[in-house]
Parts: sequence; C-alpha cells; structure tokens
Amino acid sequence: MARIVLGMGVSHGPMLTTTPEQWPLRVPADRAGKHPFRGQTWTFADLAEHRRADRFDLQSTPDVMRARHAACQRALDRLADIFAEVKPDVAVIFGNDQMEIFNETLNPAFAVMWGDLIANDEMAPARYAKLPDGIKEAIPGYIPPGGATYPGEPVLGRHVIGSLMADGFDVTSMKGFPTHETPHAFGFIYRRVMRDRPVPSLPLLQNTFFPPNQPTARRCYDFGRAVAKAIGTWAPNGRVAVFASGGLSHFVIDEQMDRAFLDALRTRNAAHITGMREELLQSGNSEIKNWIALSGALADTPCEFSLVDYVPCYRSEAGTGTANGFVCWR
Ligand SMILES: [Fe+2]
Repeated sequence: MARIVLGMGVSHGPMLTTTPEQWPLRVPADRAGKHPFRGQTWTFADLAEHRRADRFDLQSTPDVMRARHAACQRALDRLADIFAEVKPDVAVIFGNDQMEIFNETLNPAFAVMWGDLIANDEMAPARYAKLPDGIKEAIPGYIPPGGATYPGEPVLGRHVIGSLMADGFDVTSMKGFPTHETPHAFGFIYRRVMRDRPVPSLPLLQNTFFPPNQPTARRCYDFGRAVAKAIGTWAPNGRVAVFASGGLSHFVIDEQMDRAFLDALRTRNAAHITGMREELLQSGNSEIKNWIALSGALADTPCEFSLVDYVPCYRSEAGTGTANGFVCWR
C-alpha cells in the first residue's frame, strides 16, 4: 500500500518570486484596496492608524525587506533539498485557484485534477498585459520560459476520486486545467521546491478564496483526512509527499494568528485547527485552508512537524505583505 512519507507546507506568493526591491510595487494597490483583518474590513489609512504602535514602518525598510527575502529563499532551498533527499514517488498537492483557470461562471468547492499530463503553458499575452504591477514581475516564478508539461498521476487520481465519493466528498473531476494554464499554487511547487523536475503529481483544488462556496476549516480538515485514507488504500507500494501551497496571513499580516496556527500544527491541536473562524480565513489568509487540509492528511501519520522558518514580509506601515511559512513533516 502507498504511504505518506513527507508533508510540506509552503507559502507561494509573489514576494517569493520577485526581488525585495520589487516588493513596494504592490503598495499602491494596498493603499487603494480594502482589507479584511480580524473580522473587519479596513481602508489602508484606518489600518495604518489602528496598527501604528506596531511600527511596521521599521519592518518594511529596504534593509529589513532584503534580509527577510533572503531568509525566505534559504528556507525554500532547504525544502527543495529535503524533497530531493526524500525522493518521493508521487506528490499530492492541496492548492487553490485565484481566478486563473476558474471564474465566476464555474468555481468548484473541491476538484481533483487527474489528467495524464499537467500543462503549465505560458500566459496569453493579452492576459499577461492585464496583470497588475508586482504580479507581472512574479510570473516567471510560476511558469518557466516557454512553458512546461509535467507528469500527472491518473491512476492514483481515479482511486482518490472513488474513495472521496464513497466518503461523502462529491468532488469535481478534471482531466486537464482549462486553457492549459497551471494555477500558481501548483506552478510554484513544481518550479521552486521540485526544481522543475516534478514527480508525478495529483493537484487537489479547494476554493479557499471566493464566496459563496468556500469549504469551512472543518470541512477542509476532513477532506485532508479522506485524501489520506484514499492514499493509504492505494495498492501500489508508493512513497507519497503531500503539500499545502499558500498562506500564511496576507495581505494583512497577522503574526499572532499565524504563530498560534503553527503551534496548533506542531501539537496536532485539531480543535484549534478546525475551529478557526471563517471571518479570519478570507482573502489571502484563506490559503491557510490548504494547510488545514494537509494537517488532516497528516493526522494519522507518524510524520513529525519541523518548522523550517516563518518570515513575516512586511511592505508597508499598515502591516500589509505576506507572512511566509515553511514547514516540513517527516
Ligand atoms: Fe495564492
């Protein structure tokens, strides 16, 4: 039977695929936008005022940003080394789409992509041209020049779908990504952690971001457990790595929430993990639900939590940016 031998929680945002000098490119959008934070929606100015005592201005200087960027890259190198060392046969990846392959016309709560091949084609020029500043620059971190095609895992995928359906998860079945684009949640893992030489993989998509059909934290945890059950009943004797892509808090960093969550992962505190309030898991924070699914998948394995790093990457005085988490379970 297959077994899970490795778990990895990996942030994937543009701050990891741009230079620290490019980080401020996102700040005009931060200033113009409204931001969910601790159950309320804030303007940038109100948020900056509310958090003034935290002195995030001192944590978003060029020197601090450079140091934190370097810490993230070291952590990513470490995860990539561990992945190469463990050499799993197969990867199962919990990730989400951000209106890259889905849109309001169709947005499944849970989907399994069990195609033979995973196409990560270059973005159509018209779509690329519409990307905002600070995102455009990040794209090569998710899609290699000229695009790429990776091996899927259709046999495991078919088995996982059958097992999930029997366990009450009526998932959307996909044999390919629409438009042959790979959502950045997956592209980042293939490029940066698997160093462009991915093992056969099974992308599992959760709609973390977009109302009205976001699965709850509890549901994501149970989804992860059901996925682990499916992996454990797959006949081939494979060694499986399971990933969560995304998070942690963004685009308003909340270190208190992240550190409590990381501690709950370390101590396998399922009550904390499944009890996280929906109002805290909106926008970028919602990607924590990929980590929640991963924690469900690892719940019954002996794999032990090891924090590679947690790096809050601030880019403004209001505390906007991305808090990047890098965790490995072995
Ligand atoms: Fe994302």
